Amino acid sequence: MGTTDWTQLWLNYHRAYEGEGTWNIALEGFESSDAVVSNAICEFKKAVVLLIGEQVTNTADSSSRSLTLKITNDAEIPAEGYAIEGGSDGIALKASDANGVLYGVFAILRQISCGRRADEVKETASPSNPLRMMNHWDNMDGSIERGYSGESFFFENEEIVTGARTRDYARFMASIGINGVVINNVNVKGAASYLITDRYFDKLKELSKIFEGYGIKLYMSLNFASPIEIGGMETCDPLDKEVISWWEKKIKEVYDNLPNLGGFLVKADSEGRPGPFTYGRTQADGANMLGDVIAPYGGIIIWRCFVYNCTQDWRDTKTDRARAGYDYFKDLDGAYHGNVILQIKNGPMDFQIREPVSPLLGGLTKTNQMLEVQVAQEYTGHQIDLCYLIPLFKEVLDFHTHCAQEKDTVADVVSGRTMGNRLGGMAAVINTGNDMNWTGDDLAAANTYGFGRLSFNTDLTAEEIAREWIRQTLSLPQKEEDILCNMLLKSREIYERYTSPLGIGWMVTPNGHYGPSVDGYEYSRWGTYHRADHLGIGVDRTDKGTGYAQQYYPENAKLYNDPKTCPEELLLFFHHIPYTWELKSGKTLIQHIYDSHFQGEEEARGLASDWESIKSAVPEDVYARVKERFDLQLDNAREWRDQVNSYFFRKSGIPDEKGRTIY
Ligand code: GCU
Repeated sequence: MGTTDWTQLWLNYHRAYEGEGTWNIALEGFESSDAVVSNAICEFKKAVVLLIGEQVTNTADSSSRSLTLKITNDAEIPAEGYAIEGGSDGIALKASDANGVLYGVFAILRQISCGRRADEVKETASPSNPLRMMNHWDNMDGSIERGYSGESFFFENEEIVTGARTRDYARFMASIGINGVVINNVNVKGAASYLITDRYFDKLKELSKIFEGYGIKLYMSLNFASPIEIGGMETCDPLDKEVISWWEKKIKEVYDNLPNLGGFLVKADSEGRPGPFTYGRTQADGANMLGDVIAPYGGIIIWRCFVYNCTQDWRDTKTDRARAGYDYFKDLDGAYHGNVILQIKNGPMDFQIREPVSPLLGGLTKTNQMLEVQVAQEYTGHQIDLCYLIPLFKEVLDFHTHCAQEKDTVADVVSGRTMGNRLGGMAAVINTGNDMNWTGDDLAAANTYGFGRLSFNTDLTAEEIAREWIRQTLSLPQKEEDILCNMLLKSREIYERYTSPLGIGWMVTPNGHYGPSVDGYEYSRWGTYHRADHLGIGVDRTDKGTGYAQQYYPENAKLYNDPKTCPEELLLFFHHIPYTWELKSGKTLIQHIYDSHFQGEEEARGLASDWESIKSAVPEDVYARVKERFDLQLDNAREWRDQVNSYFFRKSGIPDEKGRTIY
């Protein structure tokens, strides 16, 4: 059993083997005065001692073999890419920019951590996506919206905090290829509105500098109503001349102080946030105004498409929240300026355990777009229940939108391969906090790690990523590694089985979103209904219902529109189905609901006993912390199972064929 310093996450640098050389570092075409290059070298020095017991020195030590890490500037290597190759005299690393050097060094360390010797290291890689971002929902008072791993390490008592944790955070992010970080909540209120004033510039400069040393650009969420809230104006109409000139002055001031700021993320006209709709303007009017103002500084505006009516009457079956993003944004395709990116959640609702892919992704063909996923487990178990999300993200990336003859997957669209655009990529909402282990549940770090790796290389499989993470973090014997890897890989489907059935989503406790409440949102204003009655359940989103299915390209629209061809895992998302409907398995819908809930709960118990089975191979403290989470997960799974099954038994009056206890 190795020791694991969980504060270092996957940069644990367990001893991989005993080397017998000493290293020196040779730079060709790069300067050690470059902060990124210097941090890369620093990481290498620190890690090789731990990984293989070798030192980096400048003096030749005749008693040991002399090895060189030779870092060469090679213009042929794509931006932020690297080529690494180990040999008998050391390792050659080629890159065309400093980020490439940094990523190359982390790739070397990853490969050694994962079991290769230094002389076997070999890889050529460059990022799949131009932008690979983390979105924090941290508030200035230190709380984190949807935070399940402690308080913010960016903010405390309305002040910005920097320190060793900030630096470690930046290292972790760089090690997985992240190049942009939004530090504050998209719901910008109170003190957060003042992040663009001189109250915060000095600390922001410090933060930005730490990030820059790790190849990361700082971004902030912006309050669209800033002209009113901090400027004392009466309007924030994006077409008002005085509003525009207020923004021009403001953004100049911001960039005078923070010349390397990446830009801003904006949540407008969403869940009570102000936006252009108030003034009868379009989303494009709002986004383009800010885009134009920030363009002279090379900044970008990332505009979220999470716009929907959150004051819906549940009696109204015509309005469909799922339609909203497409309805608001599709007609304006092509109207967005070049430095504006639309950021689109993976599904049309809100990060449920199963949703179809948003039809906006690829539905837009003339607009920069970025995929937003949620690593923070808001609806997927609060980092209590094990839920490895990389398989879900892979499904989204691999989805064929049919927006083009070829290169039509979501991965193609957001990377820029479909449209040849320069701006796009992937963003994840994360909630790393000041908990010792950063992510609440130790095992939830696999999602943080996995998102970064996947955004850098969308071809990696969920299993490859899981194994990389396990090897670097825990370095287990093969058998135990296999068990843990398998636990991760099946966890998403297990969670799905004991929660809401066949794509319908929700059924969660309102507000907090942990644990079951089948009707919790059924008579609410949020547009999130399952429409169950005594005969059946599901939302008719076909051409005879809300018409949502018709927002897809014909191939997908056709597939989803017919309950016989609709992928069954999404059946209730698209159709209202009788409990007696026969599924492909031959089971009725109601029997499927019962069976999957019994199965899911039992499999959750299986996860807990799998964890127990590797007890002797994992450090005691890790074992204990994770076990505590499994205990809670089992309570949760049982509660979901019994509430969902009882609910549908009571609605339908149809008993379980197998006669199990339902209440
Ligand atoms: C969800 C989440 C909110 C968040 C919102 C968003 O609705 O519950 O906390 O603000 O998504 O993505 O903006």
